[in-house]
Amino acid sequence: MRYLAPSILAADFSKLGDEAVCITNAGADFLHIDVMDGHFVPNISFGAVVMKSLNSIATSPYDVHLMIENPDRYIDDFITEKTEFIVVHQEACIHLHRTVSHIKSLGIKAGVSINPATPVESITEILPFVDLVLIMSVNPGFGGQKFISHTLNKVRKLRVLRENMELDFLIEMDGGITEFNLEDVLNAGVDMVVAGSAIFKDSSDATLNQVKKFKEIMNNE
Ligand code: DX5
Ligand code: ZN
Repeated sequence: MRYLAPSILAADFSKLGDEAVCITNAGADFLHIDVMDGHFVPNISFGAVVMKSLNSIATSPYDVHLMIENPDRYIDDFITEKTEFIVVHQEACIHLHRTVSHIKSLGIKAGVSINPATPVESITEILPFVDLVLIMSVNPGFGGQKFISHTLNKVRKLRVLRENMELDFLIEMDGGITEFNLEDVLNAGVDMVVAGSAIFKDSSDATLNQVKKFKEIMNNE
């Protein structure tokens, strides 16, 4: 099973509710929630208040990507009935096992993410404890950046590790994914695809079409 998680960072925030409902109706499996603090990454996006504004709307479950320093301080704010995954960065956590354990103790699936320059080997010891690993295919901080294809090697490595260690975490990839490189991403072994600027377009019809196009490619692979 493969999942599509459009990043609402690329949505029109003046009509965020409509945008979220549009991609949900078109078949998005998750809403990818990009939280940026201006410290861990050089950009500020939005926090739990904006995410929670979607709670009463019928949307897909949340895949929360915390690109923030000291995520332990804020994890509890992101717990809602719709929160399925909370993903923290290896680079931002001094006590990664403690952070992952805390997320799981709240009944939420835990994920760990690594930046393009961070090796897969840096997370080997945490793999038995996580439900998802997010391989960044751009340097986090902005939507619309160019895909770094070298990061596909890390997906392949991770698949081997998963098999050898007899684990079943999902492999997610985020950044610069379009309908044109999606096949490469899937062939490398990605289970969960994040896409922002390639999904959200000027009209809701065009956005709906992009979700359908992605899902079609994902179902064919
Ligand atoms: C990057 C974010 C991504 C980004 C994806 O820091 O984590 O989720 O919004 O956007 P695109 O698909 O435009 O690269
Ligand atoms: Zn993200």
